[in-house]
Amino acid sequence: MQTVTELNERFGGGAVLFGNGRNGLPVAVLQTNGCEVEVYLHGAHVTKFTKLGRPVLFLSAQSHFESGKAIRGGIPVIFPWFGPRQPDPVGQSPMHGFARVSEWAVESAAGGGDEVSLTLSLALNDLSRSMWPNEFKLTYTVTLDRDVLGLELRVTNTGAEGFAFEEALHTYLAVGDVRGVSVEGLAHTTYLDKTDNFAEKSQDAAPITITGETDRVYLGTAGTCTIEDPGAGRRIVVEKEHSEATVVWNPWVEKAKAMADFGDEEWVKMLCVETANVGRHAVTLAPGAVHGMRVGISTEAV
Ligand code: BG6
Repeated sequence: MQTVTELNERFGGGAVLFGNGRNGLPVAVLQTNGCEVEVYLHGAHVTKFTKLGRPVLFLSAQSHFESGKAIRGGIPVIFPWFGPRQPDPVGQSPMHGFARVSEWAVESAAGGGDEVSLTLSLALNDLSRSMWPNEFKLTYTVTLDRDVLGLELRVTNTGAEGFAFEEALHTYLAVGDVRGVSVEGLAHTTYLDKTDNFAEKSQDAAPITITGETDRVYLGTAGTCTIEDPGAGRRIVVEKEHSEATVVWNPWVEKAKAMADFGDEEWVKMLCVETANVGRHAVTLAPGAVHGMRVGISTEAV
């Protein structure tokens, strides 16, 4: 792994600065006027996006920052399977795949002023090979364009065989109080209710409100979601491309208590609205083919 000094010599120079983050893990900082983004190379994990000092993303105060463990909050990169692997040919496949616990390499850093971007990559390696036979390359570009956070995850099949994969940008949004927010953009759709043994259910016309443990995969949902948060005086807009599924998750009281890396009361302050291709929307890639999924996250005052 490259040191922070080497990273700054090679890729720094104003647009992006590298430093030692929590537990000494390397972190890249992107800044525009009024906005800041932090990206850990561990998991290519965006842990921070602030606008005028105010967090747009939730990060647990109890998160691990450790090699081999996922960071709790921010935006975990989920690949090549979502949730527990089914079936699990190696028996010990980590939940949500290996990308979020892998060490990514820096490909490039660019820009300055109003637009700054950082591209990280992850290719076939010993960890991936130990659990997934396919030859692939991921490139993940994180862009701060004034006050919009843009993310693009590109998956390339670098092998001679086709493969299928699932992916999600598991976005933990910071909210004032989750009991007072509503999500628009998913009306009249079908979702799988993971709290009810994946029962397929219909979403009605009303915006979604969170009134208990919520863990849903919305199918055929390629459009923009808007998270109205009147208590916090803002809305968060999540725009996306080439994503056919949207996961909405809040653990609520009991599950929060059961998670070691999450505070008992932190469920109040977060809502995951995840840009995804999972389940029946898994992507199949022929040799040499590339699939890119994009998301843009911004806020508006209300
Ligand atoms: C969500 C899943 O995307 O992630 C939930 O739908 C899961 O079922 C949650 O509990 C958190 O997963 P993890 O592995 O980060 O604890």
